[in-house]
Amino acid sequence: MTEPLADREHLLEIARRSHEVIRRYQDSGGAYPASPSFSAYRGYSWLRDGAFIAEGMSRYGDAESADAFHDWVAERLAERRDEVDELILRRAAGEQLAPADMLPTRFAIAPDAGADEWWNFQTDGYGMWLWAVEVHATRHGRDLDRWRTGIEVATDYAAAFWDVPCYDWWEENVDKRHGSTLGALYAGLAAAADMAILDGARRAKARASADASRTLALDEGVAGSPPRLTKWLGGDQIDASLAACVVPFGLVAPGDPIGAATLDEIRARLDVGGGVHRYLADQFFGGGLWLLLSCLVGWNEAATGDRGAALARLRWTAAQLTAEGEFPEQVPTDLLNPEYRDEWVANWGPVATPLLWSHGMYLILADELGVTSR
Ligand code: BGC
Repeated sequence: MTEPLADREHLLEIARRSHEVIRRYQDSGGAYPASPSFSAYRGYSWLRDGAFIAEGMSRYGDAESADAFHDWVAERLAERRDEVDELILRRAAGEQLAPADMLPTRFAIAPDAGADEWWNFQTDGYGMWLWAVEVHATRHGRDLDRWRTGIEVATDYAAAFWDVPCYDWWEENVDKRHGSTLGALYAGLAAAADMAILDGARRAKARASADASRTLALDEGVAGSPPRLTKWLGGDQIDASLAACVVPFGLVAPGDPIGAATLDEIRARLDVGGGVHRYLADQFFGGGLWLLLSCLVGWNEAATGDRGAALARLRWTAAQLTAEGEFPEQVPTDLLNPEYRDEWVANWGPVATPLLWSHGMYLILADELGVTSR
């Protein structure tokens, strides 16, 4: 460790605190709520948030918490077996499916809760969950057979619909195909292709779809000089979620020039003093700095050997802890579009705090940097 002992103790204490916050709010059935208090998120668990939160808990050493989340997701997916078969048949028959026909991006936590309207058609979470369950099982020696039906449903759904335009990580732009969605699908399908519990035909389909999603992203989702990944195919915008295409999803390897140029562009355009914006036109709560994106970029920096930069992001994130010991979703520093902030606060209340995904990402980056009590 290069950091002084007191600094390390402080960063470690915040990891303990993050674990405690996630544990406190994890539902007895295993679901991680996105935020227990935020008006628009309360009562729901997202596959995207949950996959990263589970990875943070798994890395922290709380294998039981991650197991319980994966059990819960696998059950929710198993319930959708017939629905997915039906969707696949309808598409094969040439039917144009509407976003409302597709599987949700978030699931109600209470078994009998009705579902509110949402921007639900987002395929990235299905890839992320497959990726997360596989890395967790490998890390803790779990038998994937425990989650087999859910894994089969997620694999079939991702392999059938990876190429369909859908809402992105930020639940926007439903008419586009997004680099970071393809990155998540690539990782999940590649993970499924290697799973011995799956039958050969399913594994082959997963492999072919993973390869095709990567090829499409590299053919149509790269622009600029030097060439880098883009927010959506055919565009040239940058979005910080694209960092995930490098680490952890491996659509491009950390040393790859396209990956390096993507990270450079994110740092040049979206990084402010260690915090990271989502994208330049962001209006959500005025477009502040996101903690989970700071950790995602830091994770990439750690993976490419820039420990100093990664540690600075862990410190920046740690400094955003509220007096109540919670991480928000974003902080209103250097707002990109401040004129929109009041409207969001009036409609949805204050920024989601705690956001469990922020805490989960802190656990991941802390572990990546060896800031761990194990
Ligand atoms: C974000 C999503 C996130 C959801 C729940 C939305 O505002 O755009 O990425 O999954 O909140 O945290």
